[in-house]
Amino acid sequence: MNRKVEILPDQAALIARAKELILSKINAAIEQRGRFTIALSGGSTPKPLYEAIATENLPWDKIHVFWGDERYVPSDHPDSNEGMARRTWLDRVDIPAANIHPMPTTEGDPAVSAAKYEQELQEFFHCSPGEFPALDVMLQGMGDDGHTASLFPHTEALKVSDRLVTVGNKDGNPRITFTYPFINAARCVIFVVAGANKKPALAQVFALQADSFTYPSRLIQPQGELWWLLDAAAGDELK
Ligand code: 6PG
Repeated sequence: MNRKVEILPDQAALIARAKELILSKINAAIEQRGRFTIALSGGSTPKPLYEAIATENLPWDKIHVFWGDERYVPSDHPDSNEGMARRTWLDRVDIPAANIHPMPTTEGDPAVSAAKYEQELQEFFHCSPGEFPALDVMLQGMGDDGHTASLFPHTEALKVSDRLVTVGNKDGNPRITFTYPFINAARCVIFVVAGANKKPALAQVFALQADSFTYPSRLIQPQGELWWLLDAAAGDELK
């Protein structure tokens, strides 16, 4: 695992650097393979990043957007990660509707929705059950408890290693989430983490010894590139 850590002076610099890195991955992927695939994270940190990417003039017809996790709510619900990404980015650019691949959340059963998205991914990437297709970029956030995607501490989702997508659980609320081996299959995983409240969890995630089921972001150790982009408030004590 080749982990690169960059600590940016403030949140604006963090977002600018994250955008720059993602744009470089977009250009490289389209040049090499004719398309770019990315899985988005939710929460608040990526909102200015999505707004910044939306200002770029990109070959949107060659860009495919997935989600790495989703709350089990309709897309028009205020908590929807899909809704947030559409408002801040996708509704502002000329990306074909067919290139936007939201996680299904209206089947009434999270396990059914997870299986449906897994099948959609397998069809898109032409892969068989048991294969883990490589997205170009997995964009990850980290909660102050060390979770990423919807892989929350001490939940069943952390034990799933033979699927692409599973059911996560936050305080009893169901989520749909990529599994950690699927995230690890990516060509490039980029964490974007800001704020002093993330410092304690970051210390555990970066510690030589700590429990991965307590700090699930430790499970993200891709064969490809791993970038941790941090603002100083979150990362200034990491040596
Ligand atoms: C979600 C996200 C989640 C998020 C972290 C950090 O669905 O909420 O995918 O994993 O990245 O909770 O959230 P903030 O960026 O809001 O701190």
